[in-house]
Amino acid sequence: MSIKHLDKIVSLCKRKGFVFPNSEIYGGLKASYDYGPLGVELKKAISEKWWKAMMNNSNIVGLDSSIMVHPDVWEASGHIANFNDPLTDNKDSKKRYRIDDLLSQQKSKVIDALCEILSIENKNDNNTLDKISHTLLQESDKYSNALESAGVIDPFSGNIGKWTPATQFNLMFQTNSGPSEKSGKSIYLRPETAQGIYINYLLVQNSMRLKVPFGIAQIGKAFRNEIIARNFIFRTREFEQMEMQYFVHPSEDESSMEHWKDKRISFYSEELGIRKDNLKFHQHSEDALAHYAKDAFDIEYNFPFGWGEVEGIHNRTDFDLKEHEKLSGKNMMYFDALKNEKYHPFIIETSTGLNRLFLMVLCESYYEDNENNRTVLKLPFDLAPNKIVICPLLKKDGLPEKAKEIYDSINATHKCVYDQQGSIGKRYYRQDEAGTPFGITIDHETLEDNSITIRERDSMEQHRIPVDNILKFILENK
Ligand code: GAP
Repeated sequence: MSIKHLDKIVSLCKRKGFVFPNSEIYGGLKASYDYGPLGVELKKAISEKWWKAMMNNSNIVGLDSSIMVHPDVWEASGHIANFNDPLTDNKDSKKRYRIDDLLSQQKSKVIDALCEILSIENKNDNNTLDKISHTLLQESDKYSNALESAGVIDPFSGNIGKWTPATQFNLMFQTNSGPSEKSGKSIYLRPETAQGIYINYLLVQNSMRLKVPFGIAQIGKAFRNEIIARNFIFRTREFEQMEMQYFVHPSEDESSMEHWKDKRISFYSEELGIRKDNLKFHQHSEDALAHYAKDAFDIEYNFPFGWGEVEGIHNRTDFDLKEHEKLSGKNMMYFDALKNEKYHPFIIETSTGLNRLFLMVLCESYYEDNENNRTVLKLPFDLAPNKIVICPLLKKDGLPEKAKEIYDSINATHKCVYDQQGSIGKRYYRQDEAGTPFGITIDHETLEDNSITIRERDSMEQHRIPVDNILKFILENK
């Protein structure tokens, strides 16, 4: 798949009611999207899969914490000091870039030159770009001209930029709480859902009488003032996270990390139907680790624009709990009554973005069937927003009435869509593009012997079966 497929997917999303550009009547708001009727169903189906996978563990429970929390939470977590992206401006074009992103758009000879200037070993991977960003930031005085000297091109102008020294940009959205700015205290929209779990962890543990190891899972919105937001819904400023924080004894952090790495990568192939070839792990180099992490692995997917992170699995140690304890003055230790031992548990975090999984599922399902001149979304049955399209052959002779009767009998358990416009072939093709796995046609024979034709989306095979066997057929062939 190439980048041109992404454009086709974006257009399909709008046409079929999956994703719309936000505020379109006002010219749009950059990197903001709304989910249409089919989009909400697909998003809900993915998040339900994730939630179920978590809740299937008897020692994992759920939480729904607030988007806005006490400002000290972000002081303690280190987000006020450290949640920054390194950026640079081109003085000529006035364009601003996140440095690692700017570097990912350069030719290899430019990266080679930068590595030489900064004395970095070039391994030609993400870690190399992270190391360059890190070094430019840490030693911004010494290397203030490095980007220009290496010939870094501004993707906007196509010329070598006059780059400013690397600076930090905090990604949190700041706002005010209360009726007036004067009386209100500055607060932040959460950049991750995780902190809501940490500040509640002892309340959850006590109320549910949980024993380490245990996990707390949460799905909710997060906000980041991303410098660059592109590739459709891959990186936006408002998005949904699905995070699970697993509290373990400090001696078990590494084995738990391995356990969750295995579990999480299996989730993608087993539950979302992603081909294993399209998934890989990327371990963060020490330089690129987030301020809270001892070890971190991304699960990456092979998007049309290249490999991109869909999930982070982090060993956050006891960093967050200890920092909250320091600033709040409240004890954040877990007490193991059996062993009579008090300690701060280590936290293994699995953190994924629902919107990215949505895009991944669409990319994985998108298929151009040139032989039959159609586009198909090969969505797994469980994820498809509509499961069956019900089509009367004609708009007369009692066929619509019979079709509606069949629609009503199936729709309660399997979401159906009714379509009587245009030729049967066109109606099927319309639904192939929307990912609907089955099509049913009601014709004159149906009125005689109560049989229908059922068509499978991917193979386009058709079968004549009794109406009473529709659900059995779907169960066996989905
Ligand atoms: N609590 C840890 C944490 O937030 P992260 O690696 O910054 O870690 C986790 O983010 C996941 O959240 C990412 O793997 C991605 O799926 C999603 N995510 C992060 N920033 C995003 C953005 N701007 N737009 C969409 N999804 C995003």
